[in-house]
Amino acid sequence: MEKVTLALAKGRLSEKAMGLMARAGIRSKEFDELGRKLVFEDDSGAYRFILVKPSDVPTYVDHGVADVGIVGKDTLMEENRPLYELLDFGFGACRMCVCGFEGRRPPVGAPLRVATKYPRIARAYYGEKGQNIQIIKLNGSVELGPLVGLSDVIVDIVESGGTLKANGLAVLEEVAPLSARLVVNRVSMKTKTEKIQRLIEGFKQALKEDEA
Ligand code: PRP
Repeated sequence: MEKVTLALAKGRLSEKAMGLMARAGIRSKEFDELGRKLVFEDDSGAYRFILVKPSDVPTYVDHGVADVGIVGKDTLMEENRPLYELLDFGFGACRMCVCGFEGRRPPVGAPLRVATKYPRIARAYYGEKGQNIQIIKLNGSVELGPLVGLSDVIVDIVESGGTLKANGLAVLEEVAPLSARLVVNRVSMKTKTEKIQRLIEGFKQALKEDEA
């Protein structure tokens, strides 16, 4: 039997994704020891899971080594791969925002210096506004940018707002709402249509029961 391979994002989303899968009737004894084994199957043998870094989920699905992926909308926007985005899980809800010191304006005439882990999202956002910017790519602790004078603002994820508050920063503009999404490889959608549709139906049912 041909398996359906799911790429799961390690970290924040993985526990919620496992919970939803269990409610959709997909179980694996490996779920309990998540993080060690990178490739494993569900107990029925119908599904194979690969556990990958969140930003790599779209890559695995795009290349077809995973048929399906569960990943944050932020990563999808940043990676911009030609995948089918078929379901909004709703969990992992947060916002992509422009943040900085309230009331502070960058020097007139100079490009706005934007520190971010998401250069594509930031470029697209400011490109649409026709604003001249300089991107400073960081890999974490982006809030430091304005604090130490590396950047005027940041484009980053805000979840609880705790990190901003602790550092005296505020949301200045909202770029996009975010949450976990289901993505599907375009070829897999044709070759494994029934299995993938069944999987999606299972997820939808579980989500409906969550709401009830
Ligand atoms: C993310 C994000 C913010 C923070 C937002 O960082 O980049 O820094 O979480 O969450 P909050 O609004 O609930 O405080 P992450 O924890 O992934 O770490 P990083 O800065 O090292 O990327």
